[in-house]
Amino acid sequence: MGKAFTFCYPRFPPVIGRMSSSAMRTHYCGELRNHHVGETVTLCGWVDRRRDHGGVIFLDLRDRTGIIQIVSDPQRTPDSYPDAEAMRNEYVVKIIGRVLARPEDSLNPKLPTGEVEVYADRIERLNSVHQQLPFQVSTADTESVREDLRLKYRYLDLRRDRMSKNLQLRHQVVKAIRRFLEDQENFIEVETPILTRSTPEGARDYLVPSRVNPGEWYALPQSPQLFKQLLMVSGFDRYYQIARCFRDEDLRADRQPEFTQLDMEMSFMSQEEIIELNEALVSHIFKTVKGIDLPQPFPRLTYAEAMGRYGTDKPDTRFGLELVDVSNLLKDSGFKVFSSAVASGGIIKILPIPGGNEAISNVRIKPGKSGDLFKEASEAGASGLAYIRVREGGEIDTIGAIKDNLTETQKQQLLELTGAKAGHLLLFGAGATDVVNKTLDRLRMVIGRELGLIEQDKINLLWVTDFPMFEWNADEKRLEALHHPFTAPHADDLVDLKTARAQAYDLVYNGYEVGGGSLRIYQKDIQQRVFEAIGLSPEEAHNKFGFLLEAFEYGAPPHGGIAYGLDRLVMLLAGEESIRDVIAFPKTQQASCLLTDAPAKVDEKQLKELQVASTYKPKA
Ligand code: AMO
Repeated sequence: MGKAFTFCYPRFPPVIGRMSSSAMRTHYCGELRNHHVGETVTLCGWVDRRRDHGGVIFLDLRDRTGIIQIVSDPQRTPDSYPDAEAMRNEYVVKIIGRVLARPEDSLNPKLPTGEVEVYADRIERLNSVHQQLPFQVSTADTESVREDLRLKYRYLDLRRDRMSKNLQLRHQVVKAIRRFLEDQENFIEVETPILTRSTPEGARDYLVPSRVNPGEWYALPQSPQLFKQLLMVSGFDRYYQIARCFRDEDLRADRQPEFTQLDMEMSFMSQEEIIELNEALVSHIFKTVKGIDLPQPFPRLTYAEAMGRYGTDKPDTRFGLELVDVSNLLKDSGFKVFSSAVASGGIIKILPIPGGNEAISNVRIKPGKSGDLFKEASEAGASGLAYIRVREGGEIDTIGAIKDNLTETQKQQLLELTGAKAGHLLLFGAGATDVVNKTLDRLRMVIGRELGLIEQDKINLLWVTDFPMFEWNADEKRLEALHHPFTAPHADDLVDLKTARAQAYDLVYNGYEVGGGSLRIYQKDIQQRVFEAIGLSPEEAHNKFGFLLEAFEYGAPPHGGIAYGLDRLVMLLAGEESIRDVIAFPKTQQASCLLTDAPAKVDEKQLKELQVASTYKPKA
């Protein structure tokens, strides 16, 4: 995917920090324009490229603001010429020279500095490159570089235009957040501990042994959830933090073991007020870093609507292909797969694909080497993928078993319900509700992409609300909190918490969950009932969260909050597909750092001190 947007980078300050007579440089490379013509400037940076045009040497000099063309030739700049000749890519240099307008025929409209160039009176080599570069750093080099190499030599990768811009964008986003929350909304930032106790966000903890308290462990925070709630009890009423969080979970392109949240918590605000404030915050970010005005209010879907229409609680609503529930219509059909799905508490749903007849062949839907769509479905847990092809005149064409078991009326109703016309392919999911939804969500995304239905430049932000409080964990045979167990149940649903809706809201951006939050429980008795519902005994609840329950006894205000995945937000704003591309020093999919080689073995002595022994035995 290309960049979704053009970047709207900040103007750099015209001078570098405080100027003094001994300033090592006077300007950034990327800031020179026509109005600098005639000035003598001192620049520092890296040689992006050196070109020898028959006696005239051009150096592209690069710093984090961009590139400027430096010129040296034996007639006009004899003093710098030998040094210009000796320059190589990525040498670090200081250049003193005069800014001149470029001749008409050598203007470069692709560069912001493309109307000027600097004639170098002096070129001073500050440092050289002593080894062969592992890859080309130059902006002019468009060859893609293996990610493992980029991660191993990350400091070089970060010199490159794309990564440098991504990190600067990230900085702009954080700056916009701080300005909005602090200057306009009166939030204060409070830091919370990194060495702490486990917080139940649903992932495994990273643990740190305590030397001072042998046999005891800290957990790194999965989020600052409990501390921010305690800060509300302390009266801080509008808190935020750019907070590092740690979760030991399976990694994907949008998940890292350590990542950054914009974490917020507010007292005395309703869900509506929190949502409104957050729409203003997100709009401020878009306006500041992209120059884009987002329409407000953002659209909303309830969890039930999102699951029904898209099969997921984070739908990409940039395109249609909505699912249709046909359980009622087909539950009594003679086709066993359908009837038994509904009889055992499941559903039957259809993904209608206009033009799908032509675009998608049978082999792709059936098991076998070319059955890519079948494979997607089976990876989501489906055991098969039934389909119907709608022909001219509403005739349908399908695998025998469905067709033979549909009455003419059912057939007509099916076409009506799905809006299917000639050329439509209808893909069926039938079985357990979660499997059907997962299957059709995956297929919808694959096919949406394949058919080019997703407009890359579109920005669809929406709230998903009214989540259920709990979902069933089949492995552990118990309910677990869908968000976390501090989420407040809907006031109307207090009688039976097991089926209650939560006062929770997620922000979804083009199919990614970029933020999630809720109103919180602030009464001890309701909190205890929720712990009970997820199977925590009063003793366990006391051991793990006694401090929170106790705090609720001392005047806890009504409060709520939200946390954004900062990396995800920046990834989407940068048009990248992986959060690794917006994190300076990320981990690989195997949770390791290729630059420092972390994680690594430690000295026996350290382990002894910690009274920790490894049980790991390498496979023979
Ligand atoms: P939640 O667990 O939904 O909520 O996390 C908030 C947001 O953080 C991002 N996120 C991640 N980003 C990168 N890598 C990860 N491993 C990762 N895990 C989560 C997502 C997500 O929406 N305490 C609650 C918030 C609250 O209720 O205020 C919490 O942490 O974008």
